[in-house]
Amino acid sequence: MKNGIARSPLFYVGDKYKLVREIRSHFPDHIKRLIEPFVGGGSVMLNVEADHYLLNDINSYVIGLHRMLQGYIGREEELMNALCAIVDDYGLSLSLRSDVVQKDLKIVYPKTYYARYNKAGYQRMKADFIAGGQQDMQRLYLLLIYGFNHMLRFNGKGQFNLPVGNVDFNQNVRDALHYYLQLLSQKRTEWFNEDYRQFLADIDYQEVKKLQI
Ligand SMILES: C[S@@+](CC[C@H](N)C(=O)[O-])C[C@H]1O[C@@H](n2cnc3c(N)ncnc32)[C@H](O)[C@@H]1O
Repeated sequence: MKNGIARSPLFYVGDKYKLVREIRSHFPDHIKRLIEPFVGGGSVMLNVEADHYLLNDINSYVIGLHRMLQGYIGREEELMNALCAIVDDYGLSLSLRSDVVQKDLKIVYPKTYYARYNKAGYQRMKADFIAGGQQDMQRLYLLLIYGFNHMLRFNGKGQFNLPVGNVDFNQNVRDALHYYLQLLSQKRTEWFNEDYRQFLADIDYQEVKKLQI
């Protein structure tokens, strides 16, 4: 957490992390329901206090990732163990734990050594994610973390197609996961996976009547 603002562990492109203070300054002091039609990585909801949160995104993978992470509220070590086991299966670097990248690689490719080190393992993880029907949200989370610019990108056939990035699982990722789970444990959230028009149209603005999905 930097300057009291939590970073989303999705490190989502276009997130509002840097704008949170500005956005918050326009909100009332007490919020009964925070209605987020475009929740994305969730930087805003993470950093805004409300009694209740209605959170929506049209992207089912975004919602799937949030749901997977939330399943580990109160079980942070289990989440870390599960993610690290996958990282080890694919032989990816894990700078959170140790520096495994060879010195020669760092000298020859000073700006891209993580990408070079992780390329083959990342491709195997991506192939397995696709072959498994793209349902494994832990693998998808790691594809996002080790992927180019932390994006969720799919081709015309709907297959995940992001190349490896020059990043790995480091202390920033660990910290973001820690604060996410801590903050979410104190929030009453409901998640939706709809087009924003449907989501907004279904809300009873007098009372929350939507069923949790
Ligand atoms: C940049 S993110 C929002 C950032 C976020 N509010 C935050 O706190 O950082 C924008 C999100 O809008 C979602 N989106 C785009 N079109 C949508 C639609 N028609 N209905 C619902 N969500 C949509 C995208 O999937 C994406 O996750």
